[in-house]
Amino acid sequence: MTSNIDYIDKIPNNVDLGRDRVLQRALEHWQPAYMGWWYDMGPNESHNYDVYLRTAISVDPEGWAVFDYVKMPQYRWGIFLVPPTGDREVNFGINKGQPAWQDVPGEYRSMLRRLIVTQGDTEPASVEQQRMLGMCAPSLYDLRNIYQVNVEEGRHLWAMVYLLHRYFGRDGREEAEALLERRSGDVDNPRILGAFNEPTPDWLAFYMFTFFTDRDGKFQLSSLAESGFDPLARTCRFMLTEEAHHMFVGETGVGRIVQRTAELMAQHKIDDPDHVRALGVIDLQTVQKYLNFHYSVTLDLFGGDISSNAASFYTTGLKGRYEETKIDDDHQLTDATYKVGTVKDGRVADEDIPALNALNERLRDDYIGEVQAGVDRWNKVIEKTGIPFRLRLPHKGFHRQIGNFAGHHISPDGDVMSAEQWKARRDDWMPSAADYTFVQAMMSGRVVEPGKFANWIAPPRRGIHTQPIDFEYVRFN
Ligand SMILES: [Fe+2]
Ligand SMILES: [Fe+2]
Repeated sequence: MTSNIDYIDKIPNNVDLGRDRVLQRALEHWQPAYMGWWYDMGPNESHNYDVYLRTAISVDPEGWAVFDYVKMPQYRWGIFLVPPTGDREVNFGINKGQPAWQDVPGEYRSMLRRLIVTQGDTEPASVEQQRMLGMCAPSLYDLRNIYQVNVEEGRHLWAMVYLLHRYFGRDGREEAEALLERRSGDVDNPRILGAFNEPTPDWLAFYMFTFFTDRDGKFQLSSLAESGFDPLARTCRFMLTEEAHHMFVGETGVGRIVQRTAELMAQHKIDDPDHVRALGVIDLQTVQKYLNFHYSVTLDLFGGDISSNAASFYTTGLKGRYEETKIDDDHQLTDATYKVGTVKDGRVADEDIPALNALNERLRDDYIGEVQAGVDRWNKVIEKTGIPFRLRLPHKGFHRQIGNFAGHHISPDGDVMSAEQWKARRDDWMPSAADYTFVQAMMSGRVVEPGKFANWIAPPRRGIHTQPIDFEYVRFN
């Protein structure tokens, strides 16, 4: 394997695909089905646009991307893994110290397949969720960014499908087909995880999604990048380099929305949300509601607080903790404990449980730390304008469907309430139908003049890849 990517093959790759004819043929058979999915479920009406996109040409950390105009159906989706390091070991669990597996250990086969399918399913799901948003993009810059995210999520699907085809035989091929058959939000054949079946109806939701939910992707990929199954670890490492841009799009997108709103509030000396809305921007209270929704549905993606599956994934060496090898402990966790939240006697309380069973919760806590830092940066943007409003993360137990808090009614402040009390406040805490209607009405129609931005969002500080902000990032033809 080299760090350079072979673009002569029908399927770009750096795994010497041409050497394994059976595998190559199987993937070439899947490719038209993938393209069928992209034409049906990829960005609406976009197939003939020239989009200024980056394409991976090498998996080296330096200079892996080339930027040019591409029609998205011609994007070079392919299979890119960072090169093996040769002496890598299983770094945790009962198999710690063994050489990392280059093939699937038979006894862990179904567990490993499940991990790969669950990760793989999220990738096309987000493309489906976002497919209509190009029609109401606030600028060419933002339109290009969403398309970049979409083609890379498509490539992430390729990454997981490669593993399924290469290492799991017939049932892997069947799983790869099913990944193209499920549909986000479909009642009969939905995507596997809840947040990936929620609609992403507008650009505030899109930025929240890429900030919160793509970051769940980062944390899941990071713990899979620790896997003792080396091909999974290496493909996840490369996916992480792409993921960084998705989170950048989300953080700066929300940041630009709150900047625009707060600047107008300061300029007009107003703070009543109705007056703010009358200026054609999104009031900060509505931004907070979107935050509450996306944060809470994303917390559920980490799974139950107490999980024997998470313990098995770890003990076997298949899925590590975030930055496992940088943690200074025994990497076995047999005697360790960890605090998880729960509801006891009508109040939120902590309890200590075996650390092995709390690995979902631990990953969730690592995630929350990073999310909090991003919220602090948004608040700095607001603070600069002199507006006193601050965004904040709701309590971890707020609006949860999975884990210890599921079935309880917890306020953003962490108070346990009755179902009736909670429902009476619901629209104060999460976007109501009227809030969605307002935001969508404001985002009708897209801005197509280079360098122009919709009224409700500030321009970015700089363009993409040294290009100016008024660069023609998308040509519609
Ligand atoms: Fe992804
Ligand atoms: Fe992503």
